[in-house]
Amino acid sequence: MSPATRNFGFFHHFSFLVFSLFTVVSSDDLQVLLKLKSSLLISNPGVLNSWKLNSGAGPCSFTGITCDSRGNSSVTEIDLSRRGLSGEFPFNSVCELQTLEKLSLGFNSLSGIIPGDLRNCSSSIWISGTISSPNLTYLDASANLLNGDLSELRSLTNLVSLQLFENEFAGEIPPEFGEFKDLVNLSLYTNKLTGPLPQGLGSLADFDFIDASENLLTGPIPPDMCKTGKMKALLLLQNNLTGSIPESYASCLTLERFRVSDNSLNGTVPAGLWGLPKLEIIDLNEQLPRFGHRRYKKREISRNVVSRVQQVFRRAAGGDRRRHISD
Ligand SMILES: *[C@@H]1O[C@H](CO)[C@@H](O)[C@H](O)[C@H]1NC(C)=O
Ligand SMILES: *[C@@H]1O[C@H](CO)[C@@H](O)[C@H](O)[C@H]1NC(C)=O
Ligand SMILES: *[C@@H]1O[C@H](CO)[C@@H](O)[C@H](O)[C@H]1NC(C)=O
Ligand SMILES: *[C@@H]1O[C@H](CO)[C@@H](O)[C@H](O)[C@H]1NC(C)=O
Ligand SMILES: *[C@@H]1O[C@H](CO)[C@@H](O)[C@H](O)[C@H]1NC(C)=O
Ligand SMILES: *[C@@H]1O[C@H](CO)[C@@H](O)[C@H](O)[C@H]1NC(C)=O
Repeated sequence: MSPATRNFGFFHHFSFLVFSLFTVVSSDDLQVLLKLKSSLLISNPGVLNSWKLNSGAGPCSFTGITCDSRGNSSVTEIDLSRRGLSGEFPFNSVCELQTLEKLSLGFNSLSGIIPGDLRNCSSSIWISGTISSPNLTYLDASANLLNGDLSELRSLTNLVSLQLFENEFAGEIPPEFGEFKDLVNLSLYTNKLTGPLPQGLGSLADFDFIDASENLLTGPIPPDMCKTGKMKALLLLQNNLTGSIPESYASCLTLERFRVSDNSLNGTVPAGLWGLPKLEIIDLNEQLPRFGHRRYKKREISRNVVSRVQQVFRRAAGGDRRRHISD
């Protein structure tokens, strides 16, 4: 799609506004959506019935589609989660939607990779490097069969929420994630990610939670994820993280769940952690011997710390089932 085509669409919009508010301007978006539909395998045939060429109201009335509220009928949101979709998701086509801000594909059986060769995309959404303000703020492709690495997401600098849990992503987490200023919810659990967590995570953003459990991550726990004092959950179970628990989390007054068991952490548990006012779960088990602190063993905890934390500890030690942020 050339810029000229887009300009034409723009003027077309205004000259025919009264007659064809929906169909004209969105015709590019319409084509993209129809192409998208044709590349998906849809187990329940009714599910995308409204996605068709002459549907009257146009793509803004398609199931799962939300358009710009300022009235120019461009697609800003696609929500196809939990619709029994499979096949290879055509990220390349979606990148042609100029105004897309939210993409939700969770809980399907979609496969494929977030492709490396997206620089040809006409949209600013996916282009790496040169575009400084791509508009995608919300990406949820969790619980699918996606693979490849996450490097193509490093340019999505406006991300607020990134949900990619339960896929087959491998490779390293782009260090650029640590520089995203708006990222608050990051869920990458149950993939095959390696390397360190970006150490800058949270130093610029108001983190609400991170869940990167059940990967193959190494290196230390980033110290700043509660820097702005808003974080509620830090879940890094079952990786191979090393070093000690940063002292900074002992002053994270909002923290409700702190779970780092099944790693290779060492050192001393910051004493203040046990007394945090909102903490419901602190989970260090399986790893306790490595901390070398007899006083954190169960029987001694019951003598030494306040009763609320005793409960906390028992719940965690007794096999708390809320292992993940979405549980
Ligand atoms: C529609 O609105 C969005 C958001 O304001 C803007 O980015 C886009 O350029 C507009 N498109 C047209 C065709 O006016
Ligand atoms: C991105 O968002 C900004 C602010 O909402 C808007 O002005 C701009 O037109 C958008 N760009 C695209 C390509 O939609
Ligand atoms: C991107 O553009 C290059 C050069 O124009 C071309 O060789 C390549 O096949 C294109 N890739 C895609 C995915 O369209
Ligand atoms: C972040 O996650 C929390 C807890 O699940 C939720 O309440 C909040 O709305 C999410 N924020 C965004 C921006 O998605
Ligand atoms: C975890 O890391 C430690 C220290 O780098 C290493 O010795 C150990 O083999 C790793 N364990 C696994 C399961 O990868
Ligand atoms: C903890 O492990 C790191 C390497 O992972 C090591 O450099 C450090 O000396 C260890 N500290 C203690 C107290 O064992």
